[in-house]
Amino acid sequence: MKSVADLLAEGVAGRGVLVRSDLNVPVDADGAITDFGRIDASVPTLAALAQAGAKVVIVAHLGRPKGHPDPALSLAPVAAALADRLGRHVPLAAGPDHAPLGGDALARAEGLTDGDVLLLENIRFDPRETSSDDGQRRALADELAELVAAPDGSAGAFVSDGFGVVHRKQASVYDVAALLPAYAGELVAAEVAVLTQLTASTERPYAVVLGGSKVSDKLAVIESLAGKADSLVIGGGMCFTFLAAQGLAVGTSLVQPEMVDTCKRLLETYHDVIRLPVDVVVAERFAADAEPRTVAVDAIPDDRMGLDIGPGSVERFTALLSNAKTVFWNGPMGVFEFPAFAAGTRGVAEAIAAATAKGGFSVVGGGDSAAAVRALGLPDDGFSHISTGGGASLEYLEGKTLPGLDVLNSKGQ
Ligand code: 3PG
Repeated sequence: MKSVADLLAEGVAGRGVLVRSDLNVPVDADGAITDFGRIDASVPTLAALAQAGAKVVIVAHLGRPKGHPDPALSLAPVAAALADRLGRHVPLAAGPDHAPLGGDALARAEGLTDGDVLLLENIRFDPRETSSDDGQRRALADELAELVAAPDGSAGAFVSDGFGVVHRKQASVYDVAALLPAYAGELVAAEVAVLTQLTASTERPYAVVLGGSKVSDKLAVIESLAGKADSLVIGGGMCFTFLAAQGLAVGTSLVQPEMVDTCKRLLETYHDVIRLPVDVVVAERFAADAEPRTVAVDAIPDDRMGLDIGPGSVERFTALLSNAKTVFWNGPMGVFEFPAFAAGTRGVAEAIAAATAKGGFSVVGGGDSAAAVRALGLPDDGFSHISTGGGASLEYLEGKTLPGLDVLNSKGQ
């Protein structure tokens, strides 16, 4: 696949370049961005193109609007954050009803001068973006391509830099890449290089740490990595379905009853690999001010829910992780957003950072675990790589075909 370096070498001054970035960042109720990780990771490609004189049009999404505008999911705060980082005005193109391609979006794109950057409003406000109808998506892709066409009608370029969305077959990820000369952005290229290293040349011992709330979200990656890893550490909300599968009473903890049999089978098949907590921190309710209490996993009271792994579990997991030469971590160990239930996630993160300091190769797989690293104030450089892709990095490791990468490869450029 061609890279943005190839595009820069071809020369982009005065050329329209459409960049798909993943700017899907958490925004609080007041509209303030609470984690800038994905924005920061998207800046190098955008800055390189703008500095080289491209007319840059960014297409991105925020959240999962239902195919119509939702002002709470506007990219306006993201435009301001980008302007801050790029040191130039980044206007947001949107129609009067927030439609990303409505109003004067085309006129604004045509009015860009060399080095200008324009951000389109949340592309998922347009129902064609996520449509399962090829024709619908293709029609939107045509309109996106038109934004970067030269006045003489010749095609602009497309840069795929939203690693977090390459597993989606969507108009701004897949269809437009099929339509235009397409290049992998710096972020996509870096993410793919790291994940390839994780799959191709895995130094042992190899530890996989999985957390998060649902077993069902992680089932495919468990199935795919349990046979490859030396240890598969399980914490977070999903550990309670595994504990229930062991016949333990888990009180009011989150359990997926329909997954209990699957967990039993996994525990039987991979009993020498899967490692579960030995103690957990429980509370009466799901609240930041709930009183925490540490109990053994076989002594969870009926009226308590587990909100974190306990110190004994951190110790057990740390012992496993300290000698690891390769670590992949996806999903927090507990409700790290509540300080009283953050110690498990912090402890495991510190153990992974210690393994990294001893020369191990560690990858934090996007989403909540990447947010946890930043929210807990852990140094970014404690890990070899912090991925911007949650679902995308999991699907990559599961060995699935990712449409957004596949289309770049299949163009055979
Ligand atoms: C993510 O948050 O993982 C990406 O931005 C993709 O978002 P999606 O899961 O809503 O497609």
